[in-house]
This record gives sequence, C-alpha cells and structure tokens, in this order.
Amino acid sequence: MAISDISHRPRFLAEGNVYLPHLAVIEKIIDETYDTKTFHFNFKDERLREEFSFQSGQFCFLSILGIGEAPFCISSSPTRRDHLECSIRQVGRLTRALHRLGVGAEIGFRGPYGNSFPLEFLAGKNLVFVGGGIGLAPLRSLIWNVVDNRDKYGNIDIIYGARSPADLCFTCDLEAWEKDETVNMVTTIDKGDEGWNGRVGLVPVVLEEIAPSAMNSVAIVCGPPIMIRFTFPALQKLGFTPEQMLTTLEKRMKCGIGKCGRCNIGNLYVCRDGPVFSYAQIKDFISSEY
Ligand code: FES
Repeated sequence: MAISDISHRPRFLAEGNVYLPHLAVIEKIIDETYDTKTFHFNFKDERLREEFSFQSGQFCFLSILGIGEAPFCISSSPTRRDHLECSIRQVGRLTRALHRLGVGAEIGFRGPYGNSFPLEFLAGKNLVFVGGGIGLAPLRSLIWNVVDNRDKYGNIDIIYGARSPADLCFTCDLEAWEKDETVNMVTTIDKGDEGWNGRVGLVPVVLEEIAPSAMNSVAIVCGPPIMIRFTFPALQKLGFTPEQMLTTLEKRMKCGIGKCGRCNIGNLYVCRDGPVFSYAQIKDFISSEY
C-alpha cells in the first residue's frame, strides 16, 4: 500500500488563498542545542486556535515579514492541542532571524501541508523509531502521538543518536521516554566525552546491536543523510522490507502545494506526495542524495 493512499490529507487551513499566512505569537522558546531552538506558538485568532488541526508528519511554512518564509515540520503532537511547536536549526537568513525573536514576537504561519504518518497502517504494529540530531523533530510528533494512544500499538523502540552530548535535541523528551516503562529508549552519541556515561556508537551500528524484530513491525527513520544511508541497509539486514520502512524527506520548497516544481524527487513532489514516504516509494530516487 502506498503511503499516499493511507495518509490523512486535511483541507487547507486558509481556504481561498493557500499562501496566506496567519499571525501566530511565540509563547515559549527552548534552547535545544547551541544552534537549535524549539518555538512554542499559538494563533492570534481565537477561532483558529480552536479549529486548527494537523497530523503528525505534516509541515508548515513560518515567515517573518520582510525577510521571507521557509518550511518546517510541526514537531509537536496533535494529541497535545494547547500550542504548536517547530524546532529550528540556524542555517540561513530566515532561521537566524527566527532565532533572534523572543517570547511575544509575531510570526506568520501557513499550513498544514503534505501527507502524514499513516496511523491506521501503524496501528497494532511494533514501532521502531530511528532518529539522528534534529531529525528527531518529525518523529517526536509521532512518538508523542503513539505514547498518548499507547494501547493501539505494540512495542516501541526509540534509537536516537547525535554527534556529541551537546548535539542531543529534546533532552526533556528523551528523559520522559526513558522513564516510560512501555518504551525502550536508547540514546547514543558518535563520540563520547568525559561527562558522558551513556552509550557510544553510530546509530546504524547500535540499531543492529539492539536488533528489533521485523515481525509485525514498522521502522520510522529520520536523520542526517549519512545516518539514513547506513540505516536502511541495517534495517534490511534485520529483515525489514522496503514497505516496512518509512521516512520523511526534507527538500527545498517554495509553494508547498505541488505547483512550483522545486521539490521533486524522481516523479514525486515531496510537498504534495510526501513528506512521508515508504522506502519502497523512494529507494530508486534517493541513492544519489543519501
Ligand atoms: S514546493 Fe512547490 S512543488 Fe513542492
């Protein structure tokens, strides 16, 4: 089954003009690492605050007037409706400007766009989350979603890694999942230092050591290209088929709705057909990028 067949595709928020951003106010900012912050925000319009809905895996565009806009995954879970979260690494002009904003600042929001993680397909299955660095952001939305509906899913393994302890994002979430007895949380870093007592090892290597069963399981993978490149073969060695592996892709995007042609990968548009894909859908296209 193609992911696009089983994903939720809600109506666009801004009917009539899908490019129209809505004003949102930053309510809280969490410093994840030296270059990554998570922004909590809410719509100014009370009706939007109540009516807005999205699904784990979808993305939005955030903007600052006079500077521009860029796409970001929504890193909070739709099961926690009091605000939205986007986790943003400082990599360019807009993200630098976003990082300079404080609580109370206004930003533009348009979305949600794209498909989402296929909850019906995942129900009743064991889930293996494999994340690296800021790549945990889209997985985090789904992880909280399944943790908040725990009885619908089988075993949950989370294997998360970063280059160093200072590069670990979402440390509060990692702690919460470690304490949750229904979740097997494994955190690893590529290179240890004196203050680190935890596991050391590359994510794909640790994945093979943990060796989650492929039986009735789905792996959901997101992270830097080098991690992805070695994680899919590691999963295949463990018996996962291309249909049992999902990922969410990031591409340069302009419109977000399949009009501008900026985000194509093979014959697919990441914004319209994804960003969530099974490995079966993309394996012929991504070898040059990963
Ligand atoms: S961003 Fe325009 S087609 Fe995907």
